[in-house]
Amino acid sequence: MQPLVLITGASSGIGLSLAEVFAGKGWRLALVARRSSEIRQHMSALGVALEQFRVFQADVCDHAAMQAMGRECLSQMGVPDVVIANAGISLGVDLSDPEDLSVMARILDTNVMGVAATFAPFIEPMRARGHGKLVGISSVAGIRGLPGHGAYCASKAAVISLCESLRAELRGSGVRVQTICPGYIATPLTQNNRYKMPFLMPSQDFAARAYEVVMSASSYRVIPWQMSVVAKLLRALPNGWFDAIFAKRARKARLKH
Ligand SMILES: NC(=O)c1ccc[n+]([C@@H]2O[C@H](COP(=O)([O-])OP(=O)(O)OC[C@H]3O[C@@H](n4cnc5c(N)ncnc54)[C@H](OP(=O)(O)O)[C@@H]3O)[C@@H](O)[C@H]2O)c1
Repeated sequence: MQPLVLITGASSGIGLSLAEVFAGKGWRLALVARRSSEIRQHMSALGVALEQFRVFQADVCDHAAMQAMGRECLSQMGVPDVVIANAGISLGVDLSDPEDLSVMARILDTNVMGVAATFAPFIEPMRARGHGKLVGISSVAGIRGLPGHGAYCASKAAVISLCESLRAELRGSGVRVQTICPGYIATPLTQNNRYKMPFLMPSQDFAARAYEVVMSASSYRVIPWQMSVVAKLLRALPNGWFDAIFAKRARKARLKH
């Protein structure tokens, strides 16, 4: 039996490219998103055989739907070897506008609770089997807070911490946890950004490198490597310098602008 990977956010961008790479390596695919018809269209366009994948329509914010998705995946396809919690959204927020509180709640719900809801159905089955890998897609934006992007940065910082907690929790169980932090990747999520995106990478190239990371024993990786240097510098930068450099940076677009 070919190994099984479950990927959320498989209808677009990074998730779709990951699906393409894993399919090319012969993996069976459990693909999750709200736009399930988009996934089917993409898989058909890529020539992925119908018996190689199944599509599960689910909103990662709907915990009951995610539990049901998990049960269906386990019964129809078995315990995944790899689960990639990739679904996410990115919007700017201005907390002086009370309307943006609900935007922030949606971002945290999707990007943080969505990761937890993706992993939850598979932790016990993976532990019982004695192997498996849980991969959280965070972001370089989770390393320091960026002006106008507080909700997204907070959500991605939370993904880094959540994965780290799980990693230590599951140590010795055979279930490994990885955190992958993409830099700037060319997808619908970044296409309208109004600021410079250094080392912007095509999503297919990102997915090829992410596949190698998933196959490795690494617990944390920034892709592309150039952004890992940037991330280390950002982490080391004193607050005063950081604030002076980033205060004038163009902001991520808000929902209402
Ligand atoms: N692109 C970058 O530069 C970059 C950098 C760092 C991190 N990331 C992270 O990488 C991940 C993928 O981003 P992307 O660039 O590929 O964005 P994208 O092209 O906009 O794709 C986002 C995916 O997430 C899914 N999704 C969003 N909300 C969902 C929900 N409530 N339930 C289920 N699925 C949902 C979407 O599917 P449906 O709409 O069909 O549900 C879509 O497949 C995100 O977590 C993002 O934060 C991206």
